[in-house]
Amino acid sequence: MEKILIFILVLLCLNTVECKKYSRFAKSAKYSAINCRKHSAVLTDFGGRGDGKTSNTAAFRAAIANLSKAAADGGALLIVPPGKWLTGSFNLISQFTLYLHNEAVLLASQDEADYPLIDPLPSYGRGRDAVGKRFASLIFGTNLTDVVVTGGNATIDGQGDIWWKKFRGNQLKNTRPYLFEIMYSNQVQISNLTMINSPSWNVHPVYCKDVIIEGLTIIAPVDSPNTDGINPDSCTNTRIRDSYVVSGDDCIAVKSGWDEYGIKFGMPTQHLSIKRFTCISPDSAVIALGSEMSGGIQDVRAEDITAINSQSGIRIKTGPGRGAYVKDIYVKGFKMYTMQYAFWMTGSYGSHPDEGYDPKALPIIQNINYRDIVGKNVTIAGDLAGIQGDPFTGICISNMTLDLASKSKILSDKPKKQPWNCTDIAGTSSRVSPQPCDLLADKQPGKSLDCAFPADTLPIDNVQLKTCKANV
Ligand SMILES: *[C@@H]1O[C@H](CO)[C@@H](O)[C@H](O)[C@H]1NC(C)=O
Ligand SMILES: *[C@@H]1O[C@H](CO)[C@@H](O)[C@H](O)[C@H]1NC(C)=O
Ligand SMILES: *[C@@H]1O[C@H](CO)[C@@H](O)[C@H](O)[C@H]1NC(C)=O
Ligand SMILES: *[C@@H]1O[C@H](CO)[C@@H](O)[C@H](O)[C@H]1NC(C)=O
Ligand SMILES: *[C@@H]1O[C@H](CO)[C@@H](O)[C@H](O)[C@H]1NC(C)=O
Ligand SMILES: *[C@@H]1O[C@H](CO)[C@@H](O)[C@H](O)[C@H]1NC(C)=O
Ligand SMILES: *[C@@H]1O[C@H](CO)[C@@H](O)[C@H](O)[C@H]1NC(C)=O
Repeated sequence: MEKILIFILVLLCLNTVECKKYSRFAKSAKYSAINCRKHSAVLTDFGGRGDGKTSNTAAFRAAIANLSKAAADGGALLIVPPGKWLTGSFNLISQFTLYLHNEAVLLASQDEADYPLIDPLPSYGRGRDAVGKRFASLIFGTNLTDVVVTGGNATIDGQGDIWWKKFRGNQLKNTRPYLFEIMYSNQVQISNLTMINSPSWNVHPVYCKDVIIEGLTIIAPVDSPNTDGINPDSCTNTRIRDSYVVSGDDCIAVKSGWDEYGIKFGMPTQHLSIKRFTCISPDSAVIALGSEMSGGIQDVRAEDITAINSQSGIRIKTGPGRGAYVKDIYVKGFKMYTMQYAFWMTGSYGSHPDEGYDPKALPIIQNINYRDIVGKNVTIAGDLAGIQGDPFTGICISNMTLDLASKSKILSDKPKKQPWNCTDIAGTSSRVSPQPCDLLADKQPGKSLDCAFPADTLPIDNVQLKTCKANV
């Protein structure tokens, strides 16, 4: 009966606007991906039940085990149909696409037993929440090539409140799971999904190459602990496009390992390109670099960024013990509405994994470029503090106009503060209002300097996605 109905609807609507109304009956969905797949299966073939109550952990694991046989023969697509799919952690495989129908919701299990324990990351030396192990992420993968997680903006609900309570109550013996973590992998895509209420970080590619992150909507309560949006960590060649994050922590946090562990592991985050990104983060940064940056961060390009009601625009967090570097950072086109700090650099960020760090391991912060920026209702233009004896150099700010807040929650109880506070830094500026601190004074007044922004494109910028079909 339903088949006949669909048939009639398809005949009637013939791809017109009317058709859209009945799209829930559509038998085939188009999506964009680095690679299409030859084989496909549906979660229900493996006993999956989308009733919001039955656990689908075994169904996911069985489906993926079955589809792993197709890896060498054109790869496989696993379709999650409309419904509410409760599940614990499962592992992805190579040459594989997980496609979530736009009316599918993945509900993350709230039972710790549904998340296998895995070792701390070698570049961190320990878990971030506790010294013990880490709960594997809801969607996890390691040592993979060519893996895609996408959908028609379907929702992945981390149901994180129970984890936030445990974190706040100091009840965690192991580090909370993330929604999505891929380690040691090449050619990774995560796109067109909505992620809500993650237990902790949302999207964590670590030790990866060639990562595409596009069309993500990431939402968590602004007071939820450590719900960072996207954390590129010791990755080379990453592009982040057209994404929107509302978060209790940094919207994007670029990282590369923690103190002596990160220094020893020595894997930087480099060649990261961010375009068309919007953030709301009242207590954290739009884009943070660090604080864990001990493998180095180099060549980050951010363009066309919008921030609303956020604590800081770009924040560099580091300190003695971190070692390594943050260099060649380029930001161009940034609109800010209600911000505490447009730019913030902190050279005295504490937070060490243990007592084994080397206080003489000083980070190098160099060649940081910010241009074409407008801000409304900004409290502090720049709080830029380097490290005594280890100044942050080559800072350039050009073509920036900030309207300062007349009132602000951080200043209400204090006398009028200077919009700039600069210590242990060096650099220059051009066409910046309010007038910068002396350490950033315009070195060639009268000349219009534009801070650097690379004219070339990165290889990851040029990766074209293919149009693929899923028979949903
Ligand atoms: C995301 O969805 C939009 C349409 O909603 C589509 O144009 C785009 O190709 C998709 N991108 C990816 C990477 O899936
Ligand atoms: C698993 O894969 C095989 C082919 O290798 C197929 O014959 C079988 O039906 C699959 N199992 C399920 C439950 O679909
Ligand atoms: C994954 O790759 C890393 C780095 O090459 C290696 O150290 C590790 O043993 C691999 N893990 C697995 C499960 O193959
Ligand atoms: C995706 O869904 C979220 C809410 O679930 C919505 O806010 C957002 O606008 C949607 N994005 C697209 C591209 O449709
Ligand atoms: C200055 O910045 C604004 C955006 O804030 C931009 O529209 C304009 O093109 C920039 N001017 C130059 C000379 O780059
Ligand atoms: C300006 O920012 C303050 C917080 O610093 C906020 O309370 C106020 O509502 C904002 N004003 C406008 C017009 O957005
Ligand atoms: C300026 O920054 C320095 C170094 O962080 C700090 O010690 C000092 O209190 C700040 N001054 C003001 C007026 O905020």
